[in-house]
Amino acid sequence: MLHQFLILNSGVTLHNLKETKNTIFQNDDTLTLQETKDGSISLKSHTFNESFHCLSGAHKESIDKFLRPSEIDCYRGIDKLNILDVCVGMGYNSGSLMESLINNSIYFHWWGLELDSRPLKIALGHTKFSSTWSSQVLENFKQIDENSHWVNKTGVGKMIWGDARQTIKRIHKNIFFDLILLDAFSPQQCPQLWSEEFLTALFSKLSTNGRLITYSRAASVRSSLRRQGLTIKSIIPTDSNSQAWSYGTIAFNGEVDADKQHMQKAWKDLSDMEEEHLCTIAAIPYRDPSGKSTALEINTRRKIEQKQSTLKSTSSWKKRWFNAKNT
Ligand SMILES: C[S@@+](CC[C@H](N)C(=O)[O-])C[C@H]1O[C@@H](n2cnc3c(N)ncnc32)[C@H](O)[C@@H]1O
Repeated sequence: MLHQFLILNSGVTLHNLKETKNTIFQNDDTLTLQETKDGSISLKSHTFNESFHCLSGAHKESIDKFLRPSEIDCYRGIDKLNILDVCVGMGYNSGSLMESLINNSIYFHWWGLELDSRPLKIALGHTKFSSTWSSQVLENFKQIDENSHWVNKTGVGKMIWGDARQTIKRIHKNIFFDLILLDAFSPQQCPQLWSEEFLTALFSKLSTNGRLITYSRAASVRSSLRRQGLTIKSIIPTDSNSQAWSYGTIAFNGEVDADKQHMQKAWKDLSDMEEEHLCTIAAIPYRDPSGKSTALEINTRRKIEQKQSTLKSTSSWKKRWFNAKNT
C-alpha cells in the first residue's frame, strides 16, 4: 500500500525545509514523501506533478531499469569506469550502480547533474534510505550532500548542481562516459531534458562503446537517439506478469557485441510494434534550440509540428497493437 507523508520526522513540511535554508535554486517545488511497495521511500514533485519513482519500488526500479541494463559484468578488469547520472534526485540509480561496482572491484569516476539539492538531503535524513546502502556508498552520498564531491578508494565523484542543459557544458571536453543514466521526469512534464538538442549533448559525451540508459520508451526519445546514429535496444521487463511492453531504452554508441554485452538478457531488439511506434507522430522530437525554453514552449512547438506532420496518428498505432490484443 502506498503511504504518503507531508510531514518529516523533524515535524516540518518538506516545503518548509527548503524555506529554512538559503534558496540556491529558482525552484519553489513542494515535495511529498512516499513509501513504495518494496519498502523504499520516494518523493512526489508538485511542480512536475509526478512521482520520482514507480510506486512498485524506488530501489527496485533503480535495479531493474538502470543497474541491470548497465551489465556491470562487462566491465570487469577495466581500469576505470566513467559514469554520468543525469537527474540524481535521491540517488537510487547511482547508489545501486556504486554497490555493484564496489562489489566487482571496479574503480569509477562519477559525475552527477541535478537541479535540486533537497531530494538527496531528505533521503539521507531517513533511516529507510540510509539502511539500504553499504557504508562506502553512504559515505559517497554524504560527501555529495556536504561537499558536492568525494575522493576515496572507490573512486572520485563530482556533483554539478543546476539545470542540466547548462551544467553539462561544464564537464571538461575530454571527458567521455561509459554509462549515462537519464532519469528525468516524463517527456510531457519535463521536455527540457528530452529535447533533440539535450540528447545530442548527451550523445556527444558518450565514449566509444558507451551506452545511455533511460526508463523512457517514448518514440520521440528513441527517434532522437537513433538519429544520432546510436543503436537502440528495448529493456526487457523483469516482471513476466507486467503489462509493460518495455522497461525503457539502451542506446549504444558503436557496434553491439551481443556475446559480451548480452549476458544478463537485459535488452532485445525493438519489436515490430515498437518500430512502428517510431513511424507515428509520437516520434516527433521535443525541440529546444536555445536550451532555455520552458516546458510549455517546447510542448507547444511539438504540438504544432505534430499537426503539420504527415506521419501516422498514434491512436491508429494503439488501435492496431493494443485493441487487437484486448479483444
Ligand atoms: C524522476 S526524478 C529522478 C529520480 C532519481 N534518479 C532517484 O533515483 O531518486 C527527476 C529529477 O530531475 C530533477 N530535475 C528536474 N529538472 C531538472 C533540470 N533541468 N536539470 C537537472 N535536474 C532536473 C529533479 O529535481 C528530480 O530530482
